[in-house]
Amino acid sequence: MYEGFKKYKPFEQINLPDREWPDKTITKAPIWCSVDLRDGNQALIDPMNLEEKLEFFHALVDMGIKEIEIGFPSASDTEFKICRELIEGGHIPDDVTIQVLVQAREHLIRSTFEAIRGAKNVIVHFYNSTSTLQRKVVFKTDMQGVIDIAVDGAKLIKQLTDEFEGDTNIRFEYSPESFSGTEMDNAVKICEEVMDALGSTKENPVILNLPNTVEMCTPNTYADQIEYFIKHLKNREAAIISVHPHNDRGCGVAATELALLAGAERVEGTLFGNGERTGNLDMVTVGLNMYTQGVDPELDFSDLPRLKEIYERCTNMKIDPRQPYIGELVFTAFSGSHQDAINKGHQYMKESGTNYWEIPYLPIDPADVGREYEPIVRINSQSGKGGAAFVMHNNFGYDLPKKMHREFYNLVQYECEQLGRELIPKEVLRVFEDNYLNIKQKYKLISHKVYEESENGKDYVHFKGKMQIDGDSVVNLNGVGNGPINAFFKALKPINMGKYKFVNYSQHAISEGSDSKAVSYIELKTPNGNNIFGVGIDSNVNFASILGVLNAINRAELKNK
Ligand code: KIV
Ligand code: ZN
Repeated sequence: MYEGFKKYKPFEQINLPDREWPDKTITKAPIWCSVDLRDGNQALIDPMNLEEKLEFFHALVDMGIKEIEIGFPSASDTEFKICRELIEGGHIPDDVTIQVLVQAREHLIRSTFEAIRGAKNVIVHFYNSTSTLQRKVVFKTDMQGVIDIAVDGAKLIKQLTDEFEGDTNIRFEYSPESFSGTEMDNAVKICEEVMDALGSTKENPVILNLPNTVEMCTPNTYADQIEYFIKHLKNREAAIISVHPHNDRGCGVAATELALLAGAERVEGTLFGNGERTGNLDMVTVGLNMYTQGVDPELDFSDLPRLKEIYERCTNMKIDPRQPYIGELVFTAFSGSHQDAINKGHQYMKESGTNYWEIPYLPIDPADVGREYEPIVRINSQSGKGGAAFVMHNNFGYDLPKKMHREFYNLVQYECEQLGRELIPKEVLRVFEDNYLNIKQKYKLISHKVYEESENGKDYVHFKGKMQIDGDSVVNLNGVGNGPINAFFKALKPINMGKYKFVNYSQHAISEGSDSKAVSYIELKTPNGNNIFGVGIDSNVNFASILGVLNAINRAELKNK
C-alpha cells in the first residue's frame, strides 16, 4: 500500500477563537504591487531582456499599477542597468513608485541605494527568511540571530536614506520571508523590531509584507495568520499590511481574498500568476473577481488579450486555455443546455433592460475584458439545437424561426460528425449557406417581375417570370395573389408545382455591408407530408419571400432524388 503521505506533518493551526474575517466582505481595491519584473522574472527559463522588461513595465503602468517591483538591482550587472535605464530613460511616471528588492545584507543594500539615484519615488524592499524550517536547516541560527540580521539591515537602510542626496521619496518595505512558516509571535516580534529601527510612524508607515512564500496551508489558516499578526502588532497604524501569496497548493487567489478579509491592505502578485514554482498569485483573477462583485479593482483589464500577448511574448510562457478570464476556452459553452441558457440570458437582458449582467454560465461580460462574443459558443455534436441558432443570431444576425432550429441543428450535427470535431461560428454559417442559399436549383428563375397593384380598394401582387427546369426547358409564369407568396404559388400551379403547400413564413432585415436586405424563412409541406424550410435573401422584400419558396422546393426536390 502507498504510504508516502505519512512523511508529511499537518500544518499547525492558529489559535484565534475570536476570528473576525469570516464575516467580512471585500468592498474596496487593495494597493496593488506587481512583482512580475522580479519574482516573476526570476522564475523564467530565459529572464526578460531590457527591451522586454521595459515593454512589460509600460503595460503594467498602462493598466494602472502604481507600485512596481522592478528587480533586484544589487543581484547582477544586468539588473542594475535595467534599474538605471528605467530611471534615466524617463520611463517612470510621477505617480508610479518603483520597488527594489534587496537581502538584508550590507554590501547589497549599499549597491541598491546606488541603483536608485535620481528616481522620484522608491520603495526599498528588504527581507530575510524567518521560518522555523529555514532557521533549522539553512541558517542554523535561533530567532535572535534572524532578528539581528533584519534590524541591522533596517538601521543601515534608515541611515542611507537619511544621507541620501536629491529629492527621492524613499519608503521602506520589510518581508519576513516565509512568514507563513514562522511562529506568529516571532513574526510579530521581528516586524516590531524592524519598525523601531526604521522609526516607522503613522505618517511614514513601513510596508510589512507577509509572504506565503511556499503555500503550505489552507487559505483560512493564512487568513488567521494575517488577522493574528494585525491584532498583535504594536503600533499597528505605523504599518501597511501587505500580502505576497504563492500558489503551491493552487489556492493563491483564495488565500489572497481571505487575507484581504483579514485586514491586508496591499497585495503583491503578478499578471496571470507567473512566478516561482506554481507561481505568485494572479492579480488579474483577484482583480476581476472583485469586479464581478461590483467592486472597482482600480485596474484596467479592458484589453486582456493585449496583456496576454505581451505576457506570452516577453515571458515565453503560455496561458492555459482554462485560465480564469483570459484562457482561450473560458467563454466557450460546449453543452447544449449551457448554450440555451446563455441565449436566453442575452434575450432577457435585451428585453428587460436590466442594469446588471444576468447571463447564466458567463460570470462576466466577455466584452469587459476585451474578449469577443464570437467565440462564446462553439457547436459540437452534443450541442442542443438552440446553440446553432444562437450562433446564427449572435454572430451573423439571422433569426431562424423556432420551428427551423431542429432542422438546422441536424445539418450542423451531421457536419460535426463528418469532420469529427466541433465547428466554429463561420463553419456554422457555411452549413447554413450550403444548405439554404447556395443549393442546386432544379427550378431556376431566369427572369422575374414582382409588382403591386390596387383595384377597387384592394391590393394585389403580380408575379411574372421565366423559369428553367432541369437546365433545359423554360416556362412562363404568371400569378396574381394577395401577397407575393400567394402570387408565386398561383403562378406555379399550371406547371404542376401546386403540390407544395405553404405553411408559414417569417422575415427580418439583415445588413450586408452598407445595404440592408430582407431574409425570408419559408416553411412548406412537401407532397409526402414532411415540412421543409427555404431561405431567400434579396433587397426586395417581396422577392426575398419568393426566393424562399423556390429554395424550399428545390431543397425538397434534391431530397427526393
Ligand atoms: O516569496 C517570497 O517570500 C518573496 C520575498 C522575497 C518577498 O518573494
Ligand atoms: Zn515571492
